[in-house]
Amino acid sequence: MDPESSPFTPGQLVPVELFMGRTAETERLRGMVAASARGRFRIGFVSGERGIGKSSLTAFVRRLVEIDNDAIGCHVFLGGVQDLREMLRQTFNSLLKQSVSRSWHQHTLDFFGDRVRKVGLFGVSLELDLRRDDLESMERNFASLIRQLTERTGRESILLILDDINGLAGSERFANWLKSFVDEIATSDETTKLCVVVVGLEERRRELLAKQPSLARVFELIDIAPWSDGEVSDFYRQSFQAGNATISTDDVQRMVSFTGGHFCPTHLQVKAA
Ligand SMILES: Nc1ncnc2c1ncn2[C@@H]1O[C@H](COP(=O)(O)OP(=O)(O)OP(=O)(O)O)[C@@H](O)[C@H]1O
Ligand SMILES: [Mg+2]
Repeated sequence: MDPESSPFTPGQLVPVELFMGRTAETERLRGMVAASARGRFRIGFVSGERGIGKSSLTAFVRRLVEIDNDAIGCHVFLGGVQDLREMLRQTFNSLLKQSVSRSWHQHTLDFFGDRVRKVGLFGVSLELDLRRDDLESMERNFASLIRQLTERTGRESILLILDDINGLAGSERFANWLKSFVDEIATSDETTKLCVVVVGLEERRRELLAKQPSLARVFELIDIAPWSDGEVSDFYRQSFQAGNATISTDDVQRMVSFTGGHFCPTHLQVKAA
């Protein structure tokens, strides 16, 4: 198989067109986004072992709900972020950057106004120039800002994926902020069309709950289990087909028993090539 056309994507999220399985989890997350568009705020925690497919699943759902549910999707990668303000900065920056080439981009630019600046070679990349008081305001008025952005863009809701919260899970400030932000939405007269999905390892969820035990009642849990042998076998067959390669039943079985329900793309690429 030509490595250029390999359907395996080691070290990267799987492209939407190669995403397979996970139907129940996908439907559950889509249901949460649909509920948020009806004004019912939702917050979930997607957990599972390292490399099990958490980020790929949420990235796939993001694309689906942008197309089918008229939602704004925003996937924020927070690996290494340990501080609430930095998380807020990256979240609003992602809302801006990920709107590029989407139909709500101009409304998003209008929303952020003079805080938007062009950076990088030839100014092709956008960045928010946020002052200290902007970040303070984002911390205090997060729900209100989300409401304003949804109204401004005319979209049905926002799906906010906070991925890789490893560094934040140990932050008491983040845990308390999350709890008060959820409480604020629950007690507000205004409707916040928002679905938040926090993504991380199960031990990170526990760490977060240790900082703020009330969060245990707040999260809807979506646990990503290893694939069954049948699913793994379908995955290999379809992947080889997508790469215009054939594979014998014996080889599929060998690979199924080798992976044991987990992806091991680096090894697969060596074999496939
Ligand atoms: N549903 C899927 N269909 C096809 N390939 C997948 C699927 N889910 C995951 N993969 C493959 O598995 C690899 C790991 O997936 P991903 O990065 O989404 O896992 P993760 O749980 O987010 O990992 P980490 O815990 O390290 O953040 C990806 O490189 C991708 O190629
Ligand atoms: Mg991930």
